[in-house]
Amino acid sequence: MTIKMKNATAMLLTTLLAGPALAATCDVEIEANDAMQFNKSSIAVPASCKQFTVKLKHVGKLPKTAMGHNWVLSKAADAQGVAADGMAAGVDKAYVKAGDARVIAHTKVIGGGEADAVAFDVAKLKAGEAYAWFCSFPGHSSLMKGTLALAK
Ligand code: CU
Repeated sequence: MTIKMKNATAMLLTTLLAGPALAATCDVEIEANDAMQFNKSSIAVPASCKQFTVKLKHVGKLPKTAMGHNWVLSKAADAQGVAADGMAAGVDKAYVKAGDARVIAHTKVIGGGEADAVAFDVAKLKAGEAYAWFCSFPGHSSLMKGTLALAK
């Protein structure tokens, strides 16, 4: 190999390695289990993302009637009201009140071994605003919750 070719190879490698680091990660995977827990407690959404996708995975075995989980996003100030109204809405509505304008995004309710994903426009998030996400299955939101913010 000539020196010129070695340089070209090194440059190509540098470009390939730097590539993924430059692009923002516009999705996150969250696991929920049979012990009523999420495996994450905070999410930072890069401001450079147009859309952000949350992939919810139920790694437990219990059916959704007993240990169903969803992922619901709202402003932190709205979370309690959204959870209360969602619980009242019932399982047919995925424990989210129909047409609830406080809900920024939500997945469906899933049981053990199932998965769902939801994408939302990052333009819906304001810098400096505190957002909250939780599972609105009855009785779960006090344990299954986290925070979300637009990253600077
Ligand atoms: Cu849950």
